[in-house]
Amino acid sequence: MNTIRALSALMLALYLACTGGRPSGEVTAVAPSLDSIRAEGRLIAKAGFDALSQKLMEALEQGGVAYALPFCHANAGALTDSLSAKYGVHIRRVAEQNRNPANAPDANEKALFETFAAWKAGGRDLKTADTAVVLAPGKVLFAKPILLLPQCVACHGKVGETVAEENYREIRKLYPEDRAVGFSPGDLRGMWAIYFEKN
Ligand code: HEC
Repeated sequence: MNTIRALSALMLALYLACTGGRPSGEVTAVAPSLDSIRAEGRLIAKAGFDALSQKLMEALEQGGVAYALPFCHANAGALTDSLSAKYGVHIRRVAEQNRNPANAPDANEKALFETFAAWKAGGRDLKTADTAVVLAPGKVLFAKPILLLPQCVACHGKVGETVAEENYREIRKLYPEDRAVGFSPGDLRGMWAIYFEKN
């Protein structure tokens, strides 16, 4: 009897050790742990930001907003696709107030975006915030807020103020349904959505 009790205590201890003390079916479905996926997600989001800003800055230096706009239009999607291939994940850059309707969030992404919006409304600094959810066994969605920075206002700020009228006309030509203006530095502009799937 004692042996059995000792054995089950040992099994429970091992189980908790392996699951980080969270014996929930959803969390344990993912090995090794959500924490390591989040760490990797942060690295990928940073790599995505660095790659996009580097290209953007080069395009702005080369020909200003008028040149950078069609450049972004042609290359933003390809850039995130090549990063997806490099890291073996699926990367999306989504926003509710989007420029490209292909970047509209789906239901899961929207739920996480709204979580971030609520955190921000509650006074939380989103700079280091991120989260991850298990969508199915072995499938995790990692999300990280994208905040507006001063260098973004030429294309996402207020029309007639930081966004020049003539540039906004170009934006509307490329994106007739554009909703991605009116932002100020620090605003929650969008979100990285990175899908990890184990086969
Ligand atoms: C030269 C103009 C320009 C600048 C500067 C710029 N963007 Fe954009 N942004 C665009 C264009 C064009 C798109 C649409 C790309 C596409 O077709 O996928 C876009 C799309 C996005 C998206 C994807 C969601 C959506 O609305 O379609 C996010 C998020 C975003 N930008 C954030 C930023 C942030 C943050 C900065 C500053 C670090 C920034 N942008 C600077 C032009 C710009």
